Amino acid sequence: MSSFTFVDLFAGIGGMRLGFERAGGECIFTSEWDTYAQKTYSANFDGEIFGDITRLTNMEDCPEHDVLVAGFPFQPFSIAGVSKHNALGRAHGFQNKTQGTLFFDVARIIDAKRPAAFMLENVKNLVSHDRGRTFETILDTLENDLGYDVHWKVIDGQAAVPQHRERIYIVGFRIPTPFKFPVIPNTRVALQDILEPSPEFKYTLTINLWNYLQDYAAKHRAAGNGFGFGLVDPEDPNAVTRTLSARYYKDGSEILLSQGDRLPPRRLTPRECARLMGFPDDFKIPVSDTRAYKQFGNSVVVPVVEAVAREITRWLRPRQIELAPPRELVTGRLLEESNAFDAAS
Ligand SMILES: C[S@@+](CC[C@H](N)C(=O)[O-])C[C@H]1O[C@@H](n2cnc3c(N)ncnc32)[C@H](O)[C@@H]1O
Repeated sequence: MSSFTFVDLFAGIGGMRLGFERAGGECIFTSEWDTYAQKTYSANFDGEIFGDITRLTNMEDCPEHDVLVAGFPFQPFSIAGVSKHNALGRAHGFQNKTQGTLFFDVARIIDAKRPAAFMLENVKNLVSHDRGRTFETILDTLENDLGYDVHWKVIDGQAAVPQHRERIYIVGFRIPTPFKFPVIPNTRVALQDILEPSPEFKYTLTINLWNYLQDYAAKHRAAGNGFGFGLVDPEDPNAVTRTLSARYYKDGSEILLSQGDRLPPRRLTPRECARLMGFPDDFKIPVSDTRAYKQFGNSVVVPVVEAVAREITRWLRPRQIELAPPRELVTGRLLEESNAFDAAS
């Protein structure tokens, strides 16, 4: 029996869903508009997929849920719009600050559904974008307009997988909650151990592309820029790759595996990308390589999501709170709401 329900917004291929299911959750609503992502999602999970979230106008279409999960795409806010409203000297809700962005859709669903908790995930740059103002607007909306107790942390996936991948996790509770981000268990396997034994030759770069990438990197180095390809040696037991991006399908230059002196390096296969993101091997990949690279590059490190989800769950399950309450931390309100949650579930 599942211990809590959640909705999976901007679901992609369901990386967040895997993590929350492992933490005991039941997904009761999914939104993802990209048909290729939907194809991968449907090959791996049951249930209907709602398309464009901006078209969710009748809130009845989204069921009541305990946790809202969303890896919303990064979009800047129109700060000009905000200052215009501020200039009028009136306090405005989140609508004026965020309308036209997908974060607005997240906020309006939280507003309508008031889930016990949410978890949002985004690129690390969200914190520093526009000198911190974008992130400030998000926090202000979640804390002040929606009244949630918000916690956030940038977490690097490399504790769990051999990939440097920093993402911000924003967790909110409807009531004040002494939530703490977990230390991600060190379960990292060596890069070598996630590689396929004999990948097709098509993943090896052509001599031309390899020469081009080396020339390009040399020019940039000469100009003082650090950007180039990211070559890793799979024989190195401590090898950690750069971040897999949605653009990996282009030339794959951010993560190249050396193959000795006699061959140019090769790209990861889609299955290796899946493993680099912590997906299990029974995860089906029904799309082309190009689509698969995009989908895994957009996704999440599943064991990181799972660890955060488990920590969130601790505060959603009154029985656990009663069994092992960090006494000074459990507030009356928390227990009250927890009991209400228990009664409702
Ligand atoms: C950063 S990815 C999230 C990936 C997801 N966390 C995963 O594990 O695969 C953002 C996703 O939002 C989807 N998306 C963007 N705009 C959308 C919209 N208006 N309605 C529904 N999905 C949308 C994109 O297609 C993309 O798959």
